[in-house]
Amino acid sequence: MELLTIETKPIEGQKPGTSGLRKKTHVFMGPHYLENFVEAIWAGIGGAAGKTFVLGGDGRYFNDRAAQVVLRMAAASGAAKIIVGTDALLSTPAASNLIRKRKTDGGIIMSASHNPGGPQEDFGIKFNTPNGGPAPEDVTNRIFEATKTIERYRILESQDVDISRPGMTSLGDMQIEVVDPVEDYASLMEELFDFDAISSLLKGGFRISFDAMHAVTGPYATAILEGRLGAPRGTVLNGTPSPDFGGGHPDPNPIWAKPLVDRMMSETAPDFGAASDGDGDRNMILGKGIYVTPSDSLAVLAANAQLAPGYRDGLAGVARSMPTSRALDQVANARGLDCYETPTGWKFFGNLLDDGRITLCGEESAGTGSDHVREKDGLWAVLLWLNILAETKQSVAEMLARHWQEFGRNYYSRHDYEAVDAARANDMMDALRAKLESLPGTVVHGLTVASADEFAYDDPVDGSRAEGQGIRISFEGGGRIVFRLSGTGTVGATLRVYLEDVETDPAQLQRPTDEALATVIACAEKIAQIAHYTGRTEPDVRT
Ligand code: G1P
Ligand code: ZN
Repeated sequence: MELLTIETKPIEGQKPGTSGLRKKTHVFMGPHYLENFVEAIWAGIGGAAGKTFVLGGDGRYFNDRAAQVVLRMAAASGAAKIIVGTDALLSTPAASNLIRKRKTDGGIIMSASHNPGGPQEDFGIKFNTPNGGPAPEDVTNRIFEATKTIERYRILESQDVDISRPGMTSLGDMQIEVVDPVEDYASLMEELFDFDAISSLLKGGFRISFDAMHAVTGPYATAILEGRLGAPRGTVLNGTPSPDFGGGHPDPNPIWAKPLVDRMMSETAPDFGAASDGDGDRNMILGKGIYVTPSDSLAVLAANAQLAPGYRDGLAGVARSMPTSRALDQVANARGLDCYETPTGWKFFGNLLDDGRITLCGEESAGTGSDHVREKDGLWAVLLWLNILAETKQSVAEMLARHWQEFGRNYYSRHDYEAVDAARANDMMDALRAKLESLPGTVVHGLTVASADEFAYDDPVDGSRAEGQGIRISFEGGGRIVFRLSGTGTVGATLRVYLEDVETDPAQLQRPTDEALATVIACAEKIAQIAHYTGRTEPDVRT
């Protein structure tokens, strides 16, 4: 085994977001690219020497090769120990849990989340800090700076480490502990939820389907749902992780998880359906004949979480990203809970969770989570739903109907305009900015604008300020439109238009969403002139 110091040049990178660095897989596979980024991570965190890290990923193409590179580089840089999932698999929430539970110096997660995988598709890598959450901006900035100045990296020349089964091994002076990726996570779930109650529900004939979308939650869902909870075999669909996710797009929404949605809308639908994404942090919830929007799901979970043992003492507070519907606020108001509104992106919840201000949080983009880890958590949301259903003995449709009766219904939809010309999209946002002050009081399609502003967030914990987080226009009566440009799109700009309207009339709670939102949708076009700026008369995706 030889310690090599390889001369290299700065990488043509991009600033890693809190979801780390995402690129086409072949870019990561190019000469020195992955290595440069890993060396930059060490630089960004003050070196790897003497430290212990967690390592794992979602199993996508190149996951296994990248893991070996990280191991050799960690050993070469003097890391004391790496805790790695078998075959380098770990879902994002399971990695977050291990980082916290084993009190490590952080972890490296290999994933591009819900983006497709494969040689022609995406790969990604990110660093999570010792609290288990995505690295904050000062750390990612330092990593980015390091990618621009790097001149050499250190790596051991060695055989691949066998990480195909749990146990202890070593590489140079570095210890390697290979762990079952599911074990600790499943135990955490068992602490939080009443597995006996869920198990009895399932034994009583309550049928569930979980679509793992050929991604990392397959082994987790199989072990927990079919193993510990006794759901029949076959409950987990597409449960074997594959390097290209079966050629699919592992994003749990009605577009990409259509087969599950079709099944749930059919005559023979099971009582409950769910799916998760590539790395296991997103979730989709369905009942027989009904899709639960992520915003509604968050509100229902907040209203009922205390039915699960892990939340029996109630919630410290709740939070949602700004574009997420205000269904959560209705619950918080009724229950006297603090409700925080944060910019889009999970990182903004970290401080609130660490500071004990909130217990539950979520985003409209299918992310829900709690203080049990510092990432959103797909299977956790599924199990909390099941625990609640086991206690209330209601169907998903009944739960929602009762929820809307009690709190009102926030009809909600997101329209995405993808690969729009970036300059035109920015022109549209500028034009909106220019008229924000004049909008309040005006009447658009019969709705009176109550307020209009560009969202900025002052973090109550560390005092930092995030500006330019989306333009929001609220109407009298509770309607709202939010315009924002995506921060994760890869081609041109993606315009997201979030549409919401509140209904409290008990006779109007079961309307089709598009119909209930028709006026708000028309207002969005009128105010922003979407067709004029984007050249599109219809969104590419409605969720
Ligand atoms: C999207 C979602 C956002 C989520 C992020 C990372 O970001 O909208 O809620 O946190 O992916 O999963 P966007 O593309 O809108 O910037
Ligand atoms: Zn994800």
